[in-house]
Amino acid sequence: MLTAEEKAAVTAFWGKVKVDEVGGEALGRLLVVYPWTQRFFESFGDLSSADAILGNPKVKAHGKKVLDSFCEGLKQLDDLKGAFASLSELHCDKLHVDPENFRLLGNVLVVVLARRFGSEFSPELQASFQKVVTGVANALAHRYH
Ligand code: HEM
Repeated sequence: MLTAEEKAAVTAFWGKVKVDEVGGEALGRLLVVYPWTQRFFESFGDLSSADAILGNPKVKAHGKKVLDSFCEGLKQLDDLKGAFASLSELHCDKLHVDPENFRLLGNVLVVVLARRFGSEFSPELQASFQKVVTGVANALAHRYH
């Protein structure tokens, strides 16, 4: 999927990413940009506006959790299906999340990284990263097939 150079570049870059902040911002933006995703998080409290969503501590905490697990996936780029097998089962069998939403979250994550890192998030890095988020989304969707 990724060449050795791409893996090295993604891993080096990921070392600079503030997982706590980026995870919350990515999940928060997902809920704002694609409002139907809010229905999975009704128990999280106030989701009434973009400010409320981005400031919601439960959104932040869950975003961090999601990105932490994404981080674990980065360590197993050659076996993403194995890495996300049990999460695929959870999202499919228990949560019934439409797998299209995994792709949306991956793309939102790319947007957040582009915003935060500006020119450092080069086209080459974006290309490598896009492969990672697509791989993670496919791995999470595996159980659905
Ligand atoms: C890159 C994609 C994603 C990853 C890596 C991921 C990861 C996770 C993880 C690690 C958990 C916690 C599991 C546990 O507590 O054992 C979780 C829970 C959950 N995820 Fe995801 N997730 C992703 C995408 C999504 C999307 C797109 C949605 C919905 C639009 C979603 C909805 C949920 C819900 C509703 C829970 C349970 C929340 C709770 O009440 O605690 N996930 N996810």
